[in-house]
Amino acid sequence: MSLLRYHKKIETNASILFGLGLVVVSIGGIVEIAPLFYLDNTIEKVEGMRPYSPLELAGRNVYIREGCYLCHSQMIRPLRDEVERYGHYSLAVESIYDHPFQWGSKRTGPDLARVGARYSDEWHVDHLTDPRSVVPESIMPKYRFLKEAVLKPEDIQAVVIANSRVGVPYTDEMIEKAADDFKAQVDPDGDWEDMVARYPKAQVRNFDGQDDLTEMDALIAYLQMLGTLVDFSTFTPDPSR
Ligand code: HEC
Repeated sequence: MSLLRYHKKIETNASILFGLGLVVVSIGGIVEIAPLFYLDNTIEKVEGMRPYSPLELAGRNVYIREGCYLCHSQMIRPLRDEVERYGHYSLAVESIYDHPFQWGSKRTGPDLARVGARYSDEWHVDHLTDPRSVVPESIMPKYRFLKEAVLKPEDIQAVVIANSRVGVPYTDEMIEKAADDFKAQVDPDGDWEDMVARYPKAQVRNFDGQDDLTEMDALIAYLQMLGTLVDFSTFTPDPSR
């Protein structure tokens, strides 16, 4: 058998084995790496996506700091059971401004990619303060201290700048107005129109119901916008992608 002869020759000659191994690994590498050069083409642009508002960004930082991703994913796979439970499968563009992304691989709790607008702000305050007060069988930890952690609006500009440095398209105006926009989002009686013009669909409310602007406000603002930017009643996937 000639094939067997080749096999023996390859296996008993270290140089040939190494050379052919390199060829195989290179093919695998090219298949994985080449598409990344065309990343701009592979991520479909979808109407509605925008960078996080300063308050949402602060909430996202709390989410990362508290390790919410250890129990919650933010990635709905295109499988029937997931789509029926959580809503439309996640699009690549929905995490385009995430540094780092929050897809996660562990679901001790439910996926949160589309949790926005599913519950009231009051529900979130109660749930984060004491999860068992609203879901008796919950094993989620309490985060009641977030209500006492007052945020300083002037701190957010550095976070916006850091995100713009890694590629999030914040404009000079967005950076300049970061602290104002931060405050505007929790003050429905104030001037929030400019902020919403900069961040369409941003929800303006006193999220935690207290006078102080706290980490609880920021985290709930973030949770309430998750998955709400793309309008799936009008979205149709581009079949050419
Ligand atoms: C130890 C694991 C764990 C951690 C850490 C955790 N959660 Fe949860 N979470 C759960 C579980 C389990 C549930 C389901 C029961 C419930 O609703 O409390 C849940 C439910 C939720 C829900 C309701 C989701 C839905 O669709 O009903 C939200 C919102 C939520 N968590 C937010 C957070 C946030 C924000 C953090 C971080 C501050 C966090 N969780 C940290 C385990 C966790």
